[in-house]
Amino acid sequence: MERQLISEILVKKLKSATSVAVLTGAGISAESGVPTFRGEEGLWKKFRPEELANFNAFVSNPDLVWEWYQYRRKIIESIRPNPGHYAIAGMEKHHDTFAVITQNVDNLHIQAGSKKVHELHGNIMRNYCIDCGKGATDVTALRSGKVPRCLCGGLIRPGVVWFGEMLPEDPWRAGVQAAENAQVFFSVGTSAVVYPAADLPRIAKRAGAYLIEINIERTELSPYADEVLLGKSGEILPRIVEEAYA
Ligand code: APR
Repeated sequence: MERQLISEILVKKLKSATSVAVLTGAGISAESGVPTFRGEEGLWKKFRPEELANFNAFVSNPDLVWEWYQYRRKIIESIRPNPGHYAIAGMEKHHDTFAVITQNVDNLHIQAGSKKVHELHGNIMRNYCIDCGKGATDVTALRSGKVPRCLCGGLIRPGVVWFGEMLPEDPWRAGVQAAENAQVFFSVGTSAVVYPAADLPRIAKRAGAYLIEINIERTELSPYADEVLLGKSGEILPRIVEEAYA
């Protein structure tokens, strides 16, 4: 793929922007080894979300769902952030307001040093009881292949948002606010088909933000973007940092 140029407009906009926000999806973690959902080797090509990523599936077959999340946790524990995550963390200090709004549950933005990360779909390293809501921290129980139980007897579930569930209020509200206030908004490594997260770039654009999409291919969002940078986020983001903040 031809080396994507960083436009002078984008560099100028970033140099003057006081408020910037970034929405990320599975694509930003692909170069770290986290499978995406809808790509060639995507999780939803191999597994059925209706069997694994919703509440009813969990209640009807908790061990199957738990085992699947243990499998995903093992992958995520063995990987590290990539230059894309670090570039985003490095952008933070150059703007008065900077927010990372992520659909990813892999904790990699936090590991890369980003301070303000709004996790719209939760975090796979967290767990809680479906009955009393208490966070589960008993590592031994959490490491077992079988779904653990809370002291109250309730099933312990992964701290992620499943299909058909509401997003956690605070991260969603913070995400909307960041989108409404951003002068520059990046949509990175997301197919932009899962709502309400996919609304955020459109909210930002309607509020006047300069909208940049970074993806290895065009998406449903591309016609709305002011710029579509085609390529790997782990290659394009470090170059944006180099050219905009040098
Ligand atoms: N750099 C940039 N973009 C990439 C890269 C890369 N190295 N690799 C893949 N992509 C792009 C793909 O082209 C695709 O558009 O990342 C996108 C990943 O899309 P999905 O797999 O649909 O993941 P995402 O958009 O994060 O899914 C949203 O759906 O399944 C649910 O809850 C899950 O948070 C997830 C949500």
